[in-house]
Amino acid sequence: MIKVNCLNPIAKVGMELLPADFGTTGEFAEADAVLVRSAAMHELELPDQLLAVARAGAGVNNIPLDKCAEKGIVVFNTPGANANGVKELVVAAMLLASRDIRGGMQWVEENKDDETINKTMEKAKSKFAGTEIQGKTLGVIGLGAIGVLVANAAVAMGMNVVGCDPFLSVQNALNLSTKVNIVKSNADVYAAADYISVHVPLLDDTKGMINKASLSMMKDNVIILNFARDLLVNEEDLKEALESGKVRKYVTDFPTKNILTANNVIALPHLGASTQESEDNCAIMAVKEIVDYIENGNIKNSVNYPALDMGVCNKASRVSVAHKNVPNIISALTTACGAAGVNIAEINSKAKGDYAYTMMDLDSVPTDEVLDQIAKTAGVIKVRKVK
Ligand code: MLT
Repeated sequence: MIKVNCLNPIAKVGMELLPADFGTTGEFAEADAVLVRSAAMHELELPDQLLAVARAGAGVNNIPLDKCAEKGIVVFNTPGANANGVKELVVAAMLLASRDIRGGMQWVEENKDDETINKTMEKAKSKFAGTEIQGKTLGVIGLGAIGVLVANAAVAMGMNVVGCDPFLSVQNALNLSTKVNIVKSNADVYAAADYISVHVPLLDDTKGMINKASLSMMKDNVIILNFARDLLVNEEDLKEALESGKVRKYVTDFPTKNILTANNVIALPHLGASTQESEDNCAIMAVKEIVDYIENGNIKNSVNYPALDMGVCNKASRVSVAHKNVPNIISALTTACGAAGVNIAEINSKAKGDYAYTMMDLDSVPTDEVLDQIAKTAGVIKVRKVK
């Protein structure tokens, strides 16, 4: 029985995809696979038998990726599965920042007992007036699954859109409206945009990217939207820019106590992917990823190991090896198999940064001695007889 531990509630429609020989456990320490949404995993002791962690979402800053890679634990995410949910909230955020919808609603609530509200509102409404988004320029930093949908939605609403992504994939480029002006640097986005929406992962390189220097390149009265992660923003610098009026509004799905002390902040409690559809899509993708990995050894959408897909094994056996990206591993595998008279029908290997992954389909089932010999090879992290 493969034991799956859910660190957060995961949509039923995904859990129902677990095959009969998979079961759930409430104990992280005994899990073979973990499904997680936003639970912080950095302080958890990773059990030796743990094979995979799947994040039902895109961001993986709650997971210790290197610690997992060092133990041969493959970490998956679900890129694109919640992109529409986030996009729709970004559209709402642009509107909330442009017009005082909240102020107007609050006024109606406060005056709901006024018999003549239909008349008094006509006098009161001027203080809730705003601006339109049509004809304004949206700058999108990061054209991944979410950034592309946001950019396309803005085009459809009559906005001019500039976008920047040094890692733009072919698929995302194909999905992007031809009306989006792709620029070379974030500085070009900052210079052009009335609205800036950030859609990049939180990495060492992106931490604090909205700071004094980038803010100084932006137009006066810019509206900044953050549906990615709080730490992308240097909050002290942003507070200063909000105070001076340089930034008209900051809309964030990642509020902190600190930023909530500033004026002109519109904050939501990490609601971007909190829709039935996004939760279902993420759960389905996450469950499929861990099942395919455990049953077939295939890796799709991992953030700490390379993608490698050999389909379903139709040979006698399949062995997977998670290892360091160092010389001589493949020759050690072929030597161990060759010496034991085990023929390798197919072998594939891929590397990603410091780590690599190799799978072999074999014409006979290797003995435990062969697997032990492979496991002892310098640089090998985890050996698994998948079939
Ligand atoms: C994401 O990174 O995709 C979101 O944070 C997902 C979520 O809300 O759980």
